[in-house]
Amino acid sequence: MKSAAVQPAINVEEIRAQFPILKELVHGKPLVYFDNAATSQKPRRVIKAESAYYATINANVHRGVHTLSTKATEAQEAAREIIRKHINAKHAHEVIFTSGTTASMNLAAFSLGQLLLKPGDEVLISEMEHHANIVPWQMACERHGAKLKVIPVTDSGELALGSSDHLIDQFSDRTRILTISHVSNTLGTINPVKELIAEAKKRGIITVVDGAQAIAHLDIDVQDLSCDLYAFSGHKAYGPTGTGVLYGREELLERMPPWQGGGEMIDVVTFEKTTYAKLPFKFEAGTPHIAGIIGLGEAFRWMEDYDFAFAKASAERGKSAFAAHEHMLLEHATKELLAIDGLRIIGTAKEKVGVISFVIDGVHHYDLGTLLDQQGIAVRTGHHCTQPLMERFGVSGTTRASFACFNTIAEVDALVAGVKKAVKMLR
Ligand code: ALA
Repeated sequence: MKSAAVQPAINVEEIRAQFPILKELVHGKPLVYFDNAATSQKPRRVIKAESAYYATINANVHRGVHTLSTKATEAQEAAREIIRKHINAKHAHEVIFTSGTTASMNLAAFSLGQLLLKPGDEVLISEMEHHANIVPWQMACERHGAKLKVIPVTDSGELALGSSDHLIDQFSDRTRILTISHVSNTLGTINPVKELIAEAKKRGIITVVDGAQAIAHLDIDVQDLSCDLYAFSGHKAYGPTGTGVLYGREELLERMPPWQGGGEMIDVVTFEKTTYAKLPFKFEAGTPHIAGIIGLGEAFRWMEDYDFAFAKASAERGKSAFAAHEHMLLEHATKELLAIDGLRIIGTAKEKVGVISFVIDGVHHYDLGTLLDQQGIAVRTGHHCTQPLMERFGVSGTTRASFACFNTIAEVDALVAGVKKAVKMLR
């Protein structure tokens, strides 16, 4: 890792030059990509690492004694190690590869449900969760006769945690699992997960964090957070689609039953009984997305080179250099968008990443998104896989711009001009 002393603030032009897609035109206009919370773009290094696997070492992992299989295995396991280091997990075998946060959450909900939930037990989530951190738990609760309980959200889009002497009033003596997003994909709110985890641990509650929207922006240290499980996707962190991770504390993973059965996850199979492989393979049935995992490892190396070295030693510990840049874009966008008549921002928490969701009187988000696209500007519109949160705020959907390290102030200005133009046409 580079030292903070030699790491300047990020050079956006140098970073932009590494993303081939940013040279694309959309409807004849330069692409302005503000849909990074859905999926980030990929730097050339990641694209090359993935295609180099197919071009030079394509083989299955952990299966052959031949040279290519050995090389593919080494490259995959090197990716596991760089990710371990990045999130400061104690052991590489605590990093389980999945196809994304959704798969990580389904694994967690299925397996923890089997291990922990009895009729009448409770799983605590929040009103701002993505469907991927609601539905798998609902399914687990249905299977085991448990109840889903929900921490409400305030008007500013923060967790309503209850009275000051009880950080979470919603805990009960039946709460077994707390599962919460680190950062809201719709509101941008950064939740105080470390404090919540500490409170949960006092009560013996298992903690799961949905880090899908945090991994590319915050300095994640799973030992410092002291969480039991932490899930994230690779494709939101400059890595390939179809990749993700479930980090788990070794002692808990050892106790958790596997989610999917098949090759690679076994020790001995007979028709009478199967015993399972050691960690992490117990949770990695079937051939993994080897090329994607190798690309994901390169994405983490890339982030370390450009960003997180600065973060780990900066005064603003916990936030990355990318996040500082994105925060500057967020402040500019917030000020300029709020000047538009009838525009309301959904999500005004004190602690936010570079995500801005808004609604405009008399303008449907779908029409706005379509008109922005005509100008080459990519935003997400709709409910953002958070229907209960939309209901909480009394809206059917929002327009959402979500920033990455390669975005610029000029692009934010293009968005603001684009919204103004669209509003004139639609009202
Ligand atoms: N969860 C992704 C988003 O927020 C898809 O857009």
